Parts: sequence; C-alpha cells; structure tokens
Amino acid sequence: MDLRTTVADVAARRIATRRVSPRPEPTFAALPPGPTSHPVAQMLSFLITPQSFLRAVRSEFGRVATLRIPGIPPLVQFSDPEAVREVFAASGDVMHAGKANAILEPFLGTYSVLVLDGARHRSQRRLLLPPFRGDRMRAYGEAMRDITLDATRRWPRDRRFVLQRETQAITLDVILRTVFGMEDGADQDRMRSLLVSALRILDNPLFIVRTFQKDLGPLSPWGRFLRLREKIRREMDALIARRRRDGLREDILSMLLQATHEDGTPMSDEEIRDELFTLLVAGHETTATALSWTLHRLSIHPDVLARVQAELDEVFGADEPLDVDRVRDLGYLDAVCKESLRIHPVIPGIGRVLEQPARVGGVDLPAGVAIGCSIYLVHFDPAIWPDPERFDPTRFLDHKPTPYTFFPFGGGLRRCIGEAFALYEMRVVLATLLRELEPVPAVREVRAQRRNITVTPAGGLPIRMRARTR
Ligand code: HEM
Repeated sequence: MDLRTTVADVAARRIATRRVSPRPEPTFAALPPGPTSHPVAQMLSFLITPQSFLRAVRSEFGRVATLRIPGIPPLVQFSDPEAVREVFAASGDVMHAGKANAILEPFLGTYSVLVLDGARHRSQRRLLLPPFRGDRMRAYGEAMRDITLDATRRWPRDRRFVLQRETQAITLDVILRTVFGMEDGADQDRMRSLLVSALRILDNPLFIVRTFQKDLGPLSPWGRFLRLREKIRREMDALIARRRRDGLREDILSMLLQATHEDGTPMSDEEIRDELFTLLVAGHETTATALSWTLHRLSIHPDVLARVQAELDEVFGADEPLDVDRVRDLGYLDAVCKESLRIHPVIPGIGRVLEQPARVGGVDLPAGVAIGCSIYLVHFDPAIWPDPERFDPTRFLDHKPTPYTFFPFGGGLRRCIGEAFALYEMRVVLATLLRELEPVPAVREVRAQRRNITVTPAGGLPIRMRARTR
C-alpha cells in the first residue's frame, strides 16, 4: 500500500467528516448536508487530493452532498446517473456551465466557448463543431502519426524517463500542426516556447482560485503569466494575419477563418484567437494525460498489452507507415482507451451554476447554487461497474454504457467538442508507438494528483520503454 495515499485518504476523511461550529447559511439554508469542515480545508482537499476527498464525502453523505469552497456558491455534488441525466438534459438557460468555468476566463479570453453561456455560447459552439466532426479526423491523422514517430525515435530505450513531459510534447505539437496549422520552423518554435512557459506557470493549482490571480509585477508568477499571455496574443494575431494573406489550408484555423455567425458575419480576430487558445488549453494536457494513464495501465497489465499488439499486427501487418484510415478497425485498442478514461477520468467532474430554481436528483435547489456531477464517483460505483478497481477493457466490448454511467467528456449542450479528436489521437499515437515499443513500469505505485483542471499521474509518471519483442 502507498503510504502517501493512505495519509491523504485519512486526511481527506477527517476533513470530510470533521465538524466545526455550524454556521447558519443565510441564502442557501435547505441544501443537502455535506462536510462542515472549514471551506478553506474543503478547497485544499478538493484541489490537492480530489479522489480521496470525494470518496470520503460519498461514504459519509451518500450520492448527494453540499461542498463549501471559498469564492464560489455552495456546490451540490451529485454522483448518481439519474441526476447526471437530468443535468445533461437541462436547458442552457437553466444551468450555466460558462459561469461555472468563469475562473478560466483570464486564461482563455472573453470569447472562449468554455466561459460563455446562452446565445453567445450556442453561437461560438456552432462555429467550432464542424472541424471536430468524426469525418474530419482523416485530415489530422497523418500529422498525429508523424509527430509521434519523430518524438518516440528520440525517447531513451531501457532507461527511466518522465512520460507526461513527452506525451505533452506530442499533443502540443499535434495542436500546433492541426489546429494552428503551423509548420516546423522559427515561428512554431517561438510559439511553442511561449506556450510551454505560460502553461508551466499555470501548473500552480492555486491559480484556479481568483484570490491568487493577482498581478504583483513582472516577477510575480501571475504577473509573468499576464505578460506572456500578451506575447502569445501578439503571436496569434500575426499567425491569423499570415493565414489570411497566404491562403487557407486544411487546418482548423483555416476553417474558423471561413466560418460565419448566423447573421453571416465572419468571426473576429479576437474570437478566433480566444478559441485557438481554448482548444490548446482544453485539448493538449487532457489528451496527454489520458495517453500517460493508458501507457501506465499497459505497462502493468502485460496481458492487455499483448492483446493490443496482436490486434496491431492483425490490422497493419508489416505495413510502413501505419495507415491512419485503418485505425478505426482497432476495436480492442479503442476499448483500452475507454477503460483507461473510466478508471482515470482526466477531469474528475463537471460543473454548472443554476440560473433558475430546479429539481435535480429529487432535490429542490435554489437559483445561484453550483451543481457538480462527479465523473470519478460514477465511474467507480460498484452498482454500475462491478469490481470497479479492476482494469478490464472487455467491459467496453461487451456492452455500451449510457452517457450517464460513462462520461469522461461531460455531456449535454456542453459535451467536449474535442471528444472524437482526442479518442482518435489516442488510438493513432498508441498504435504508432506500440508497434515498436513496450512500456515497462519504472516505479512501484503511481498516485493521482491534480494539475490545473486535470488529474494526472504524480511525478509525471516515470516509465521505461523497451524495443518490442516479436
Ligand atoms: C482525453 C481528452 C479530453 C478529455 C478527457 C476532455 C474532457 C472534457 C470535459 C469533461 C469537458 C466539459 C464538458 C461538460 O461540462 O459537460 C470538456 C469540454 C471541452 N473540451 Fe474537452 N476533453 C478532452 C480533449 C479535448 C480536445 C482534444 C479538445 C480540442 C482540441 C477539447 C475541447 C473542449 C472544448 C472546446 C470544451 C468546451 C465545450 C463547451 O463548453 O461547449 N477537449 N472536455
């Protein structure tokens, strides 16, 4: 047993159950019960050890509990599929996800689809959906494969290295190539290095709390982030101007330049810039983390790895390079990716803010409260997923879960725009690298930790890769 996990579990349980003198809640008196520990303690547990905290809350209070976190309204947290169904079916006028994501606005910009609600959200989402439709994936597959080949050729063999850094480099380059349409060269290197520096500052979990987003000059972390953001915006403006001047291509930026609002007007440069940055932030670390978790699982389940490799041999034989069109024939690898997303949901839950009073999961809730649906708790519910701790991809071969029992990409009107892209990218990257390499565990136990909005392997997942034995 990992000592650190045990300590975190015990601490989370204490925080979830400890009572401080109960304070009356003037506006939200009748909410379901939940931990009465200090809101700052609840926030820290939620940020630092989200999984143990949520498990402890669930075992104490059941499938609905109210969490108190400073700076946001009380958060009523649900973990049963019926409540999830109701949240996903609710109108965008009753539940606002943009408001629940408001903390991301300083990172993403005011036009970002993630922070908008109502008509403005519908309009931006309508513009962003076409480049991410399943039938567009072919246009991106070869770039995903070539970037993976380039990167994995440089990975050390039989020596321990930090995997998350490498998967992140792959997914960042995939977005620079397929979304931004950038080619290798000085412009791409400059953009990559600015983005990596900005994203590194954002690793600080405190920045998802408004109080810590303070510009205390160019040397303070937030001050540095704001200055980098300005530079990135200038680079993006130059990229958009270049693309307008030099002509459109197959990338997503080009599609956005041609997209028009319902009244026929094109997207402004500011809109395009904010959406490009949103796609980068929403799409790169999430997919990198999902890849790292999947490779971790393959490293500790040799039987699953062997079955994946047998499928790769059957579908591709000795063909070089891998034909990305045939990635759709990899049914078992697809099941492996999904089981990995079930057992390691990269984003542990989704949030909404109630604009109007509503009844959810049999509970009447007033306007103004926040609602959370815990992806993590539903994915570990033994009534839905027997023996939930067991990694078993065949679950996804035998039956198709409902959108309320398996929802790593959220749902309803806010369902992840990049779902098909991410699942396709996972299959292309894994198929490309597993034809040549086999992951081998380099540490005994891997803990989960929060990084920004994602839950990643602690320490970035040290791993070893060896040449595949046939
Ligand atoms: C494994 C990888 C990924 C995971 C686990 C993931 C998960 C999620 C989740 C949970 C949401 C919130 C849904 C909700 O509130 O109901 C979301 C939203 C979103 N994701 Fe992803 N995502 C991934 C990859 C991507 C990629 C590759 C892109 C684009 C390049 C992307 C773009 C977005 C956008 C734009 C939204 C906002 C949708 C809206 O508010 O209407 N994601 N994602």
